[in-house]
Amino acid sequence: TTEIYTLSLHDALPISTVKVLDAAGETKGITFNYDEQLLGGCAIDAAGTPWPDATLKSCRAADSILMAAIGGPKWDGNPRGLRPETGLLAMRQELGLFANLRPAKAIPQLLDASSLKREVVEGVDIMVVRELCGDVYFGKPAGIYTDAAGVRWGQNNMIYSEPEIERIAVVAMDVARKRQGKLTSIDKANVLDVSQLWKDVVIRVHGECGGGVELSHMYVDNAAMQLVRWPKQFDTIVCGNIFGDILSDEASMLVGSLGMLPSASLPSEGPGVFEPIHGSAPDIAGTDAANPLAMILSAAMMCQYDLAQPELGQLLEDAVEAVLDAGYRTRDIATDGGKGETLVGCKEMGDLVTAKVAELTDRKSTRLNSSHG
Ligand code: IPM
Ligand code: MG
Repeated sequence: TTEIYTLSLHDALPISTVKVLDAAGETKGITFNYDEQLLGGCAIDAAGTPWPDATLKSCRAADSILMAAIGGPKWDGNPRGLRPETGLLAMRQELGLFANLRPAKAIPQLLDASSLKREVVEGVDIMVVRELCGDVYFGKPAGIYTDAAGVRWGQNNMIYSEPEIERIAVVAMDVARKRQGKLTSIDKANVLDVSQLWKDVVIRVHGECGGGVELSHMYVDNAAMQLVRWPKQFDTIVCGNIFGDILSDEASMLVGSLGMLPSASLPSEGPGVFEPIHGSAPDIAGTDAANPLAMILSAAMMCQYDLAQPELGQLLEDAVEAVLDAGYRTRDIATDGGKGETLVGCKEMGDLVTAKVAELTDRKSTRLNSSHG
């Protein structure tokens, strides 16, 4: 049995995901145990902190962590210590989640939902490997202060140590090798010293353990442009925290909807965190309009990376694909007047995937039985 930890602003997201996971587990006689805990906005409201001790404790004890979304306008005006994002960043640091994998893969059924031309996005398959524990997000000194002349200053420090760059570069070499073997390292070394160190270390790591990987380098501004010009030139991208934050949102739009994309955040040891890339979408909270597929696909990544159950992960992915093939769409992935499309809510989408999991498993066992005569 496995403990998972889940939380959300949109309860429908984790509820749907848990249903799908349970259905998948059942096919292999696996029971998941869930320990639901609070993080972000709901934790501020219930416990007065975005990152309660109970949550940290539960995370440390879990085999894996499934997360929904954390924020909303309600908390935007709070002092930084009482903002949902502060809880998320604390979780990343305290659990050592330095390697963030964000796949952006074009989904054939959704090509028309992309804002780019079909020929540009068809076949796009990019993995963004984003460093998640360093950079300007955590660099000190940071803050807002007033100088002797009464002028206010805001500052953050873009800083990386060599070991921090090295460990993410090692992960990126590994990830690229298991994909098409093409790694693009993103920096701004023409201007920033921190980026020059980034580039130097990535080149060194490539020399030491980059066998089978073709490494290239790109400035971040150019990368942002190339991603919309011709995204198929990219296979695996490795970048620092802030560049990865920006480029992964951009990459996700290529494939139709933020509502489809999962992510994994992995430490060197201990449980990883699996979460949809999309945020909490407060504008549709409580309306049953959210797309649960990104969270279900995050659970699929969890099965693969944390639980050593790749077949379960595959089963979830197949079920999602089959439901899309059958024409079911949440609002964010519906095309205007799309032929053969049925608009469904979050809960119904979850139920459809759950039913598909069972159906696919039945079909497989029937086929196996008949092939054995
Ligand atoms: C993300 C988000 C977070 C980040 C925010 C919510 C702190 O944008 O996971 O990409 O900036 O990392
Ligand atoms: Mg972001």
